[in-house]
Amino acid sequence: MYRCAVVFLIVVAACTPAMSSFWQQALPGTPMPEAIADLVPKGIDDAPQVERYPAFPSISLCGAWTGMCTASLAAPTGIFFYEAQLRPGSTMTMSFPAEAEPPILPHDLAEKVPFANRSAVLTTFSIPTGSAEASHVAKTLSLCQSLPHAGEVRVCTTSLESTVRSAMNMLGGRSTGGDHGMWTATSVLPAGGGLPRQLYKVQAVTKLLGDYFVGCHKMPFPYRVYQCHMTAGLTDKGYVVSLRGLVGGGPTAKLLAFCHFDTSKWSPAHPSFEVLGTHPGTPVCHFMPYANPVFGIGKKATKP
Ligand SMILES: *[C@@H]1O[C@H](CO)[C@@H](O)[C@H](O)[C@H]1NC(C)=O
Repeated sequence: MYRCAVVFLIVVAACTPAMSSFWQQALPGTPMPEAIADLVPKGIDDAPQVERYPAFPSISLCGAWTGMCTASLAAPTGIFFYEAQLRPGSTMTMSFPAEAEPPILPHDLAEKVPFANRSAVLTTFSIPTGSAEASHVAKTLSLCQSLPHAGEVRVCTTSLESTVRSAMNMLGGRSTGGDHGMWTATSVLPAGGGLPRQLYKVQAVTKLLGDYFVGCHKMPFPYRVYQCHMTAGLTDKGYVVSLRGLVGGGPTAKLLAFCHFDTSKWSPAHPSFEVLGTHPGTPVCHFMPYANPVFGIGKKATKP
């Protein structure tokens, strides 16, 4: 713990301006999404502490094939839904739990904090061996160290800069600024990042233009680790879905969502099939939870 605090003190002065100028250069004309900006000072001002360890289970695990999302975790949240529900007027019951949000580290600091060495991670963050948290760390590392499946493009990132750079690399490094550059967005949720359990009505659905997107999913770890993966060109589509709760003028949210239209090669054990009562080959749609950024690129893409 002290080691981290010391590391933080050394980098604190350099980090904030460095991160925002990095952002402006990499993503001109695209402000840092609020949900991500909120995580930045946490990674600079404070040591990433064990109290911030993301409460497990996290629904972020359901947006990618992590093997860590179960049907019983996903079903009550409404994170998986049918393509037919993507139209104004349709309703869905949703409940996104607010989760602990670990800090996102600046690159300089991420270089000094252990990642790949599991026992060093446990020691640095005082995570007891044999605890549930230790097993989450082990699962995250084994997923991050495993090779992608054929045709899959994915990478784990441990800092703000590596997240943006990885997305740029996946999207072809074609960030040229303005409407032709890369953009990023996150779902916009009520304060706290959760959705109170109730019935929501779809008010509007906007398709994200562009053929490829990179979605980054928060992994369980004492600081922010994203598993970022690129969608499969022609068979995946992205949307912004505006929702309003139906109770008492209810809460509103603008959620990013993806529909995967070719799931024929997905494992029949994917929790979405159990939740939706379908099988490989049928489309699967899912929302992106809080602070899970999406990157896109393309001419005149509809920016969320
Ligand atoms: C991993 O970290 C531990 C504890 O900090 C250290 O003793 C060990 O040598 C490291 N292992 C590797 C392969 O670097």
